[in-house]
Amino acid sequence: MTMNPFEFRTVPAMEVAWGGAQRLGEILKARFSAQNVLLVTDAGLVKAGLIAPIAQNIKAAGLNVTIFDKVVADPPEHVVHGCVDEARKAGVNIVVGLGGGSSLDIAKLVAVLLQSDQPLSEMYGIGNVKGSRLPLVLVPTTAGTGSEVTNISIITTGETTKMGVVSPQLYADYVLLDAETTVGLPKVHTAATGIDAMVHAIEAYTSRHKKNPLSDALAREALRLLGANLIAACEDGSNRAAREGMLLGATLAGQAFANSPVAAVHALAYPLGGHYHVPHGLSNALMLGPVLRFNAKAAVPLYAELADVLGVSGTGDAEKRSADFVAHMEKLMDASGAPRRLRDVGVTDNSLAMLAADAMKQTRLLVNNPVEVREEDALALYREAY
Ligand SMILES: NC(=O)c1ccc[n+]([C@@H]2O[C@H](COP(=O)([O-])OP(=O)(O)OC[C@H]3O[C@@H](n4cnc5c(N)ncnc54)[C@H](O)[C@@H]3O)[C@@H](O)[C@H]2O)c1
Ligand SMILES: [Fe+2]
Repeated sequence: MTMNPFEFRTVPAMEVAWGGAQRLGEILKARFSAQNVLLVTDAGLVKAGLIAPIAQNIKAAGLNVTIFDKVVADPPEHVVHGCVDEARKAGVNIVVGLGGGSSLDIAKLVAVLLQSDQPLSEMYGIGNVKGSRLPLVLVPTTAGTGSEVTNISIITTGETTKMGVVSPQLYADYVLLDAETTVGLPKVHTAATGIDAMVHAIEAYTSRHKKNPLSDALAREALRLLGANLIAACEDGSNRAAREGMLLGATLAGQAFANSPVAAVHALAYPLGGHYHVPHGLSNALMLGPVLRFNAKAAVPLYAELADVLGVSGTGDAEKRSADFVAHMEKLMDASGAPRRLRDVGVTDNSLAMLAADAMKQTRLLVNNPVEVREEDALALYREAY
C-alpha cells in the first residue's frame, strides 16, 4: 500500500528523570544563557509545597526567579495579560511552565507575548501567531493534557467559550518529565487527567485527516501505558512505576494528537468546562462513552485494533472487538472512581440544547471526527451522557 504524505512535528528535547525537577536550576543553567526566569504555576501547587524547593534550586544555580502563581483551571484571558505584565516588570528572559495543563498553556502564550506586539485576540485559530518567543521550558505535574509537547494553548474567552491558539511557536525548547512531581496529585485528578490522556490517544488514532504512521505508533504506545497504569496510579499515588508510566503515556499521547488532532469528545467536553467548570479531564471522561458508541459505525476496525493494544480479553470479528474496546473503556472509567454522568457534576437537563449549540462552534475539532456530528447528534450525545 502506498503512503499518504504527512508532516510530523514535536519538541526538540525531552528528558525523563525521576526527581529531575529538584535540579531544574542546573538544567536551565546548562541549557540556556538566560538569567531571569519566570516560573508560571498555580496557587494550589504552591500550597502543596511543590514550588518552593524548585524555585530555591533555581536561585541556588545563580538565576533570578519571578513566580507567577495566579493561573486558574480553564484560564481566562486576563490571566495571560496579568502574567505578561508581571513578567515585563521583572525583565524576564526565559519562561518555565511548571504545573498542570492550565499553567503550561499560559506559559506558552506568555513566552510568545513577551516578544510580540500581536494582540492575543489575533492569535486564536491555527497558524496565526507571528514572530518568535522567549526560551520556553515545560515541566508537567499532571499526566493528562500532554500540553508539554503540543503546539496548543487553550484559553477561556469571554465568559464561557474555550478557544485554542495552535501554532508551531508553542512547541517548547525543552521538556522535563519528572513523574515525582505528580505523586501528590489527588486520586480524582489522577483519574480525570489520566482519562483525558487516553482520550487524546484514542482520538488521535481515529482522527479523520491527519492520522499518520508516527501518530499511530505514539497513540498505541500511549494507550498501552495509560491503560496498564491508570488504576494502579489511582489506587496508590506513590506507586513510582505507575506514575512514570502515566506521565510518559500522557506525553506520547500529546505528541500523537499534536499531529493528528482530537475530535468530538473534546468538542463536546469544552462547553462543560466553559459553562459548568467541570475539570477538563472529567468532562472528557463524561462524554467518552457516548461518543465512542456514536463513532463506532465508522471506527470499528480501529477500535478493534485498540482492544488488542489494551490487551482486552476476548475474541471475535472487528465489530465484536470494537464493542469489547468500548466496554473496557467504560469499565476503566468506573474503576477510576471519576463521576460518570452529567447530572452528577451539576449539569441541568434544560441546558443540554445550549451545550449542543455551543459544541458546534468547535469546528477546529469537529472536522477531525470520524463521523460527522450535527447539532441534533450533539444533543443526543449530551442526553446519553446525562
Ligand atoms: N495545550 C494542550 O494541548 C491542552 C490539551 C488538553 C487540555 N488542555 C487544557 O489544560 C487544562 C487542564 O489541565 P490539567 O487537567 O492538567 O489541570 P490544571 O492545570 O487545570 O490543574 C488542576 C488542579 O490540579 C492541581 N494540581 C496539578 N498538579 C498537581 C500535583 N502534582 N499535585 C497536586 N495538585 C496538582 C492544580 O493545582 C489545580 O488545582 C484545561 O484548561 C484544558 O483545556 C490543554
Ligand atoms: Fe484533552
